[in-house]
Amino acid sequence: MSERGMGAAMGQVPEYTCMVTEWVKEVSDLPVIVKLTPNVTHIVPPGKAAQKGGADAVSLINTINSIMGVDVETMIPYPNVNGMAAHGGYCGTAVKPIALNMVSELARDAEFNIPISGIGGINTWRDAVEFMLLGAGNVQVCTAVMHYGYRIVEDMIDGLNAYLDEKGFASVNDIIGKSVNRVTDWGNLDLNYDVKAHVNEEHCIRCNLCYVACEDGAHQSFEFVESNGHRYPRVIEAECVGCNLCALVCPSPGAITMERRDDGTEPQTWKQRTQGN
Ligand SMILES: Cc1cc2nc3c(=O)[nH]c(=O)nc-3n(C[C@H](O)[C@H](O)[C@H](O)COP(=O)(O)O)c2cc1C
Repeated sequence: MSERGMGAAMGQVPEYTCMVTEWVKEVSDLPVIVKLTPNVTHIVPPGKAAQKGGADAVSLINTINSIMGVDVETMIPYPNVNGMAAHGGYCGTAVKPIALNMVSELARDAEFNIPISGIGGINTWRDAVEFMLLGAGNVQVCTAVMHYGYRIVEDMIDGLNAYLDEKGFASVNDIIGKSVNRVTDWGNLDLNYDVKAHVNEEHCIRCNLCYVACEDGAHQSFEFVESNGHRYPRVIEAECVGCNLCALVCPSPGAITMERRDDGTEPQTWKQRTQGN
């Protein structure tokens, strides 16, 4: 229905989502799972609208509006349909973080209490577990099956079973939503939690990517030191804010670790600090 703008019209206006869900519920005895579009600013209003309309569950996310690129020779964006392009639907691995956020936002909402089916970038059992931990009661897979075939679902089932056994869970139901209360708003995070980057010279290949990234993109927290006849980057702890950028750009496993430096003092949120309690 995208050619007629139907999906967008229903998914982006909560009143329509509610109304169409009611219509479907009126005429069907089957369970109704309303699929939510991620092309909205905030996922909770359409989710609640589906619930209000009588949906038995919601599934999310659908694909994200996108233009994959432009052929710089012809200057025609992809996909080239006789010289013209239109937006496509972004999906697969890249959308997983967006999908996880939206699933967790709904799962965290106290007034939202119908089941969630998680979709978006699920390739492995681990991805499936992540969605379930953040509140999805089951998961769906599209792109990965298109890419690798249905057989990857067998691998996911095996991996999930092994994970549940290892963790001592009797049923997959035991992990649903287990990480939901670990997500909060920024203002509730502990400002006293203090980590610093540390360079482990035995694994450092002296590529200096950490230095460049920190110098130009973060907090100028690196200096160089001579050690064993070589020049190594070293963290200036007084400057390091623990942002993790150096560890992310480091290509050598184990060369940069993030190490806890606070002394376990009472957690303090931004609100508590600014309000002086
Ligand atoms: C080629 C293609 C066609 C799709 N068609 C539909 C569709 O007709 N209706 C729908 O609700 N979602 C459709 N989707 C969205 C998928 O069901 C899924 O929500 C989305 O791709 C994210 O999951 P994934 O990362 O596992 O692909 C389509 C996705 C792809 C890649």
